[in-house]
Amino acid sequence: EKVILAYSGGLDTTMIIPWLKENYDYDVVCVCINVGQGNELDGLEERAKLSGAVKLYIEDVVDEFVDDYVMPCVKAGAVYENKYLLGTSMARPVIAKRLVEIARLEHATAICHGATGKGNDQVRFELSIKALAPDLKIIAPWRIWNVSSREEEIEYCKSHGIDLPFSANNSYSRDRNLWHISHEGLELENPAVPPNYDHLLVLSVSPENAPEEGETITLSFEKGIPTKLNGKSMKVSHIITELNTLGGKHGIGIVDIVENRVVGMKSRGVYETPGGTILMEAHNQLEELILDRDTFTYKKGIGNKFADIVYEGKWFTPLREALQAFIDSTQEYVTGEVKLKLYKGNIIKQGTTSPYSLYNESIASFTTGDLYNHHDAEGFINLFGLSLKVRAMKMAEVVKN
Ligand code: ARG
Ligand code: SIN
Repeated sequence: EKVILAYSGGLDTTMIIPWLKENYDYDVVCVCINVGQGNELDGLEERAKLSGAVKLYIEDVVDEFVDDYVMPCVKAGAVYENKYLLGTSMARPVIAKRLVEIARLEHATAICHGATGKGNDQVRFELSIKALAPDLKIIAPWRIWNVSSREEEIEYCKSHGIDLPFSANNSYSRDRNLWHISHEGLELENPAVPPNYDHLLVLSVSPENAPEEGETITLSFEKGIPTKLNGKSMKVSHIITELNTLGGKHGIGIVDIVENRVVGMKSRGVYETPGGTILMEAHNQLEELILDRDTFTYKKGIGNKFADIVYEGKWFTPLREALQAFIDSTQEYVTGEVKLKLYKGNIIKQGTTSPYSLYNESIASFTTGDLYNHHDAEGFINLFGLSLKVRAMKMAEVVKN
């Protein structure tokens, strides 16, 4: 029988290979899924084979990730607990989906992942697998074995004939893809302690170390999707790559948060989302001009709900699909250009334009306009405030008696 292992090449998922063979007698098919984590993919094939895998798949899903998972979240304005742009959360379902596809191709009967028993990722992987392939067995070694240190893992690998150069020193627990990198652990585990940014940052510099000179960029959108950067047409994944470089250089999108995990605990993390932060801000600026007030407000609520759904791993659900349909219908006229200046961690507006802008200078201006008559406001306020006034009169009466 075969098992599909979500494999990164790191110590944890490498140790799982001999462990699966020893405890279940499985043939282990490793699958490394490229969601834009960068150079971590080099030399993986040898590593997997040396560790006893029968096969390694390297699957590039970057564009699928961006188009079908990241963009819906951008259009929704999905931000978890006001800060977290969901980089890890939205990558889990696309990874799970590809694992399931390969499980079918290989006629495997189980999927194994290396997420711990304390986190959100186990929830996201497993809800996705259950929704897509309810018959597949799920194996989560971290909830089964009793391994407590890297040294122990290295020892286990060695005793099973795997002698690879793993360093013994602990670093942050990180998760990287095209959208972001997350950092947890070490000094971050104490919320009273500031992050050691000199050691921690990977995609960006801190605002103090950003250039003295700002940089202006232009982003064009069509129906809520970015289509051009500085006038040049590019696919969305390339726009994000470019924005990561620009945003990283100017210290944009570093977030330090204590968040509520699905499993009940609070957890401290630092996220770097340089390009994503710029993209979300630009998209939001366009919506400011284009969406009517009722839609704008209602969509904010839907966006928050969408963020919770994504965070909780409920991607493959009817509710996510229904909310996404609502969001898509709000994007029909989200087309236009946004100019921004990047400067020491800040994104400064430099002007927004759209053929569908609802902003009307003649109405809004303090000095001009026929469409808006000051006198109309008096009657409007009388009715708008009538219920408040009635209640206040009643209260005055009640207090008197
Ligand atoms: N706390 C974040 C989340 O729940 C990041 C998780 C990072 N995962 C990891 N395997 N290092 O989405
Ligand atoms: C893990 O525990 O595997 C990483 C953290 C998380 O999933 O929240």
